[in-house]
Amino acid sequence: MSLLLSPVDIAGLSLKNRVVMPPMCMYEVHQEDGLPTAFHKAHYGARAIAGVGLIIQEATAIEPDGRLTNKDLGIWTDAQGHSMSQMVADLHVLGAQVGIQLGHGGRKSIDAKDPIAPSAIAYSSDYKKPREMTQADIERIKEAFVAAARRADKAGYDMIELHGAHGYLINQFLEPQTNHRSDSYGGTLENRFRFLKEIIESIKAVFSKPIWVRLSVTAYDETGVQNTLEDYQQIGRWLEELGVACLDISTGGLMDVRPNIPIHGGYQAPFTAKMKESLNIPVTAVGLLNSPELAEYLLQNQQADLIQVGRGLIRNTNWLAEAAEMLRDHQFKVYNNSYQRGQVR
Ligand SMILES: Cc1cc2nc3c(=O)[nH]c(=O)nc-3n(C[C@H](O)[C@H](O)[C@H](O)COP(=O)(O)O)c2cc1C
Repeated sequence: MSLLLSPVDIAGLSLKNRVVMPPMCMYEVHQEDGLPTAFHKAHYGARAIAGVGLIIQEATAIEPDGRLTNKDLGIWTDAQGHSMSQMVADLHVLGAQVGIQLGHGGRKSIDAKDPIAPSAIAYSSDYKKPREMTQADIERIKEAFVAAARRADKAGYDMIELHGAHGYLINQFLEPQTNHRSDSYGGTLENRFRFLKEIIESIKAVFSKPIWVRLSVTAYDETGVQNTLEDYQQIGRWLEELGVACLDISTGGLMDVRPNIPIHGGYQAPFTAKMKESLNIPVTAVGLLNSPELAEYLLQNQQADLIQVGRGLIRNTNWLAEAAEMLRDHQFKVYNNSYQRGQVR
């Protein structure tokens, strides 16, 4: 039996295998009301039927202006939470565990009327210049995260992932190039971490299931001062102390630059391994992990605890069944007998 397709307990989350569908925005909310549509139910349902252990719902905004675009999902109203609860219940019936990525785009919220950020610095000339957040804005956004977490709890999600990566609001607070604040939320690493820390402390009071954080552990930016990997290892240790269950290690997105490393299968995995070395909590790897052998290698060599397959699952819903065949894992069962018949070529 492969590790990839065998069950695991990740800090209180019982998963039937180690394949995770990472959050991927689908921009399919055509009514611009943040509500899941027939598309979302079918899209996630198909991956649940395909056997994905944990599905993390795409970045879901905690307030309207925190959406990346107006076609994103949102969980700033009870009606949105209620609609998601029906989708979550169906996904549970289909055998998947379901998480939700909560996020705020900050200066990268392209459709926001009044984009906010730690400092008034635009992402690029194509984006509006954001307004520097006041203390009142910080309190309001923290409360919006708490209200969203409460709704996520009521909707039955099995975990929450805070989107601290890809240059969105939390990432903007963490990094010195996007955070020039002179109050207690800017300056030292510890100060820049404060916003994320306070969000976690507040949502823990309303969400008792696992809380994960996604981090971009390099900004790939050689033109300015950026957090180092050692800084992120420190942030990881602080997150561990706060009771965060798992770290989802990604890279990039902070600045308008392309990665300055070759992009090949598993290109982000060395970052994951480095984060894992300095932590006691599990980590997930993501980024062109389409080869089941590579995924299995990372798990066997303890470079990651879970494997996320994003574009691979968009392209090929049958990814897990094919992985089982490739890894000669005879324990893996497709959804039902009819699906089994579909595997015969
Ligand atoms: C269409 C699309 C939408 C994405 N949306 C999100 C998102 O909502 N939140 C997030 O953290 N990452 C997002 N990502 C990044 C993916 O979660 C993942 O990290 C990335 O695609 C690399 O993994 P892969 O090579 O397996 O696709 C998105 C990626 C794609 C392709």
